[in-house]
Amino acid sequence: MLKEIDNHLSDIKKISIKSLDELEQFRIKFFSKKGIIPSLFAKLKDIDVDKRKKFGAKINDLKIKIGEIIDKSKDELSVVSNNKNVVDYTLPADFLKLGSRHPISIVKNKIIDIFSKIGFNISEGPEIEDDWHNFTALNLPEYHPARDMQDTFYVSKNPDYLLRTHTSSVQIRHMENNEPPIRTISPGRVYRNEDISARSHCFFHQIEGLYIDKNVSFVDLKQTLLHFTEQLFGKSKIRLRPSYFPFTEPSAELDIYWGLNSEADHRITKGTGWLEILGCGMVDPNVLENCKIDPNKFSGYAFGMGIERITMLLYQIEDIRTFYENDIRFLQQFKSSI
Ligand code: PHE
Repeated sequence: MLKEIDNHLSDIKKISIKSLDELEQFRIKFFSKKGIIPSLFAKLKDIDVDKRKKFGAKINDLKIKIGEIIDKSKDELSVVSNNKNVVDYTLPADFLKLGSRHPISIVKNKIIDIFSKIGFNISEGPEIEDDWHNFTALNLPEYHPARDMQDTFYVSKNPDYLLRTHTSSVQIRHMENNEPPIRTISPGRVYRNEDISARSHCFFHQIEGLYIDKNVSFVDLKQTLLHFTEQLFGKSKIRLRPSYFPFTEPSAELDIYWGLNSEADHRITKGTGWLEILGCGMVDPNVLENCKIDPNKFSGYAFGMGIERITMLLYQIEDIRTFYENDIRFLQQFKSSI
């Protein structure tokens, strides 16, 4: 019997347990009711009393060693095991969760791309603006009734600082600092003191465009906007409807023919098939003069659009507020749109 115990002791020195399954088999082999350890103890009663103590100690030694092996293997295996108790190092790693661009950024980049390709650069300016750049230089002197078109958040009075109501202010800054020819687009956030609803918000994003050179005419404006609508919406039927902006003369709204093919088309175009996309016009000579550009030598056009509105059209989004809630379920839907 001593030999049997010694054999077990030397066997367990060589053992290597590679899985929780193997470990369980090992435990059963030695510790289960009919396992080796209980049966060794059972044999003790047949041994002479004077040798019993020595044998008992030897079995105990084996029992302790096996207990240690089980504890050690359990620790090692639980570090490397996953829930399935199997480690397969050849499996591909978990995918890292990547973020995605915000839909407003996606559409902004698309618009920038279209105009960059036809020679427009990008200009930016401050969101806290002075009265001159947001209003006065744009032919909107103090007390001009058209200032009411854009209800304004004032930051301070005298000197007047405000949150810009449009990125036309960036165009003024650009004209003050650059000589024609000027071809620039100005993306950015703008603020208006409006009630928050599904269709309006107290801040939103705009892209405005400006082209100043010799002999720029309304024809250039129309052709550029046609190119833009073809590229962004794939639509080539447009119309320019007379409108009014203090900084352009003549002024117009650009409508695109969206179509009346589906029930949604009827809903979003209010049954007309036409959709208003942006405001535009020929830069008023007063605005050029305010920026020290000679209106007898140069002329130009300008246009401006809300990015939210265009994004809502492109992705059929019903409520502007969803852009700002940052609900991951909403944002994840734009993953494949770059
Ligand atoms: N600034 C105008 C707005 O915010 C848009 C516009 C820009 C209109 C340029 C005409 C020319 O509503």
